[in-house]
Formats: sequence, structure tokens, C-alpha cells
Amino acid sequence: MSAPLPTPTRVAIALGDRGYDILIGRGLLDSAESFDGLPAAPCAVIVSNTRVAPLYASRLREVLAARHARVLQIDLPDGEAHKDWASLDAIFDALLAANCDRKTLLYALGGGVVGDITGFAAACYMRGIAFVQVPTTLLAQVDSSVGGKTAINHPRGKNMIGAFHQPLRVIADLDTLASLPQREVAAGLAEVIKYGPIADSDFLDWLEGNIDALLARDTQALAHAVRRSCEIKAAVVAADEREGGLRAILNFGHTFGHAIETGLGYGAWLHGEAVGCGMVMAADLSVRLGLIDSAYARRLKDLIARAGLPTVGPALGAERYLALMRGDKKAEDGDCRFVVLDAPGRASVRAAPDAVVSAVLAAHTA
Ligand code: NAD
Ligand code: GLY
Repeated sequence: MSAPLPTPTRVAIALGDRGYDILIGRGLLDSAESFDGLPAAPCAVIVSNTRVAPLYASRLREVLAARHARVLQIDLPDGEAHKDWASLDAIFDALLAANCDRKTLLYALGGGVVGDITGFAAACYMRGIAFVQVPTTLLAQVDSSVGGKTAINHPRGKNMIGAFHQPLRVIADLDTLASLPQREVAAGLAEVIKYGPIADSDFLDWLEGNIDALLARDTQALAHAVRRSCEIKAAVVAADEREGGLRAILNFGHTFGHAIETGLGYGAWLHGEAVGCGMVMAADLSVRLGLIDSAYARRLKDLIARAGLPTVGPALGAERYLALMRGDKKAEDGDCRFVVLDAPGRASVRAAPDAVVSAVLAAHTA
């Protein structure tokens, strides 16, 4: 990590009485100021996992102990394969066993898996309690901790069981990214890159110039990438919190990506890897539908490859891909719908003929 950042950046999510701030900076995890204004509930519960907890939970516990009479901790098993009912139940069991009431405040300490499960547990426990996101992966800091989508996976589909439930705050401590495996940094970059083609051409230009600095975890570069990603996501979520329309653009590359994740079994490819490859496919689909030129799709593919992400999908077979994608949440009447690029920096959701999708799959799978 490089030079210190002066003060945390604050990005507001404008959702009226469900609005909140994302704090982005260094040393936020054990800075008392990060928690100012949050409810000083009698009981706080840190939900983490067996990988992240040994790295960061004691620091969070210490700062929370000054605010809450009781601080409990639940360590879930690690990995996408555990984003399931068993983990959710483990949280409910622990909360009930400790007599946690509806004022209890949950803290999700970890990546997107912990964040999504904890948020869903908070949405359901006693019909809804409050929670705070403390994301520790790049992917979680730029995407999953923001916007209130919470879920677990079903064997038949990603994130199929869930709820919208906004956190009270997001505390994104850039220092936690120092311990991330390099493969996870690359996976996080997939969700960062996504924001360029769907919403901000200047950001895509910036990413092309700074991808090496991001891979090297330069703090200034990471701070800019996290802030800009959160600003774009904040604007989209404020305009369409429950995905009536616009918010679906945040799923660029995800229809193909979710099919890869579900088709291979959760955890075989990282979510960000599947999204990276899925964006290559979705960009090519946009070319084949006559929406963007092939040079732009190639430019995007080059950036995704430079980020260290796969650009060739697994050989599941076109029929299996199509079957999985017909089960996607964006599908209507059994027809797949895809986020496509209408122009650089602009996206929409459309159906596409199976023959065109099959051609995309033939061009971009092993
Ligand atoms: P993850 O939560 O599995 O974390 C990746 C790995 O890094 C895990 O092994 C984790 O334990 C470990 N880890 C976390 N922080 C670490 C740290 N600081 N140092 C070392 N290791 C660390 O995966 P992810 O990529 O963070 O999140 C992917 C999940 O997010 C998927 O389930 C995806 O569906 C979901 N997601 C949700 C949304 C949303 O809007 N809710 C958006 C995008 C993705
Ligand atoms: N990651 C997609 C969304 O938040 O809508």
C-alpha cells in the first residue's frame, strides 16, 4: 500500500429515510469516528467467516465494545458454496440462542458472500433488524455492500432467494485489501470495469491507464476506483432501488456469468471471474445485435484480460447455457434477457434470438 489518504471519502446513497453513507478510506475499521451516529444498541453481532475473522474481527470487536454492552461474533464457513440456507440458519440459531432482540445490530465483516448472507439474515430476523456493511474485498467495496440487495444461492440459480434491505452504513477500509489474494483483486476489478461501459466512458479511459496500478494495489488508484464505482452505483440505486428498470444495467455480463457459476458449481469460478468473461460475451452480443462496433468490444476484452480475468467461458454446451439463462431473474416468459451496450457508456436490457446467443457462446467458450 502507498501514501496515506487524508480523510475518508463519503458517498451518499440518496434513498430518503433509508439513505446512508459509504465511508471509503484507510484505517476506518478501528477508528471510532467511522461508527459515529450508528445506534448504540445493547447488542452488536459481528458476522464474518473463518478466513476474515482471524485477520480483522478482533479490531472491530474492540471498537464496538466501547459502543455496545455485548459484542458477539459468528464465524461462517468460507466460500460461495456456503452462501446457503445452512449459513443463514447458523446466524438465526446463534441470534436466538443469545436472546438477541430486534434492536440488535449486525455487522457484516467480509466479502460479498458474508455481506449478502448477513443482509438477508437482517432482513428476516424478527421481521427485520438493522445492519452495517464492513466490506473487506474489492468486489464488496465497489458493489455488493452497496444498494441493499441481499440473498443466498439456490442449487438451481444464483441469488435466487433474497430481499432488498439497505444497510445503515458501509465502512470500506482500503487497508483490508492488502491481505486479499491476487485472484480476488482481479475478481473485484471485473465489477469495477463494468461501470465504464454501462455508465462512464471517462472512467473506462481512466481504468485503461491505471489497471496496472490497481493490480499493484496503489492506494490512490484503489481509492479513486472504489469512490467512482460507488458514486455510479449510488446514482443508479437512488433512481431505481428495486430494479424496476434502470438498475438491471448493473448486471452487465451477469446473465452469462451466473450461468457459468451455476453450471460449474458455486465456487469453481469466482463471481468476478464469471462476470469478467460474461462481459466479453455480452459485449460481443451487443456487436452482433448491431449496437456497438467490434473495436469497442475488443477494447473491453483487452482490459478484462489485462486485469487477469478469463475471457473464454467453460464448455458447458450452448443448450445448458441457454437453459440456465432462461432461469435468470431478468428472464420473462422463459425468454432470456441480457444487458447490452447501446453505445459506449450506455446500456439497456433486451431479449436476443437464441441463434445469436449461441453464436456468441460458440465464439467465447472453450
Ligand atoms: P467472497 O465473499 O467469497 O470473498 C472472496 C474470498 O476472499 C473469500 O475466501 C473471503 O473469505 C476472502 N476474503 C475476504 N476479505 C479478505 C481480506 N481482506 N483478506 C483476505 N481474504 C479475504 O467473494 P466476493 O468476491 O467478495 O463477493 C462475491 C459475492 O458477492 C457473490 O456471492 C456475488 O453474488 C455477490 N454480489 C452481490 C452483489 C449485491 O449487490 N448484493 C453484487 C455483486 C456481487
Ligand atoms: N450488483 C447488481 C445490483 O446491485 O443491482
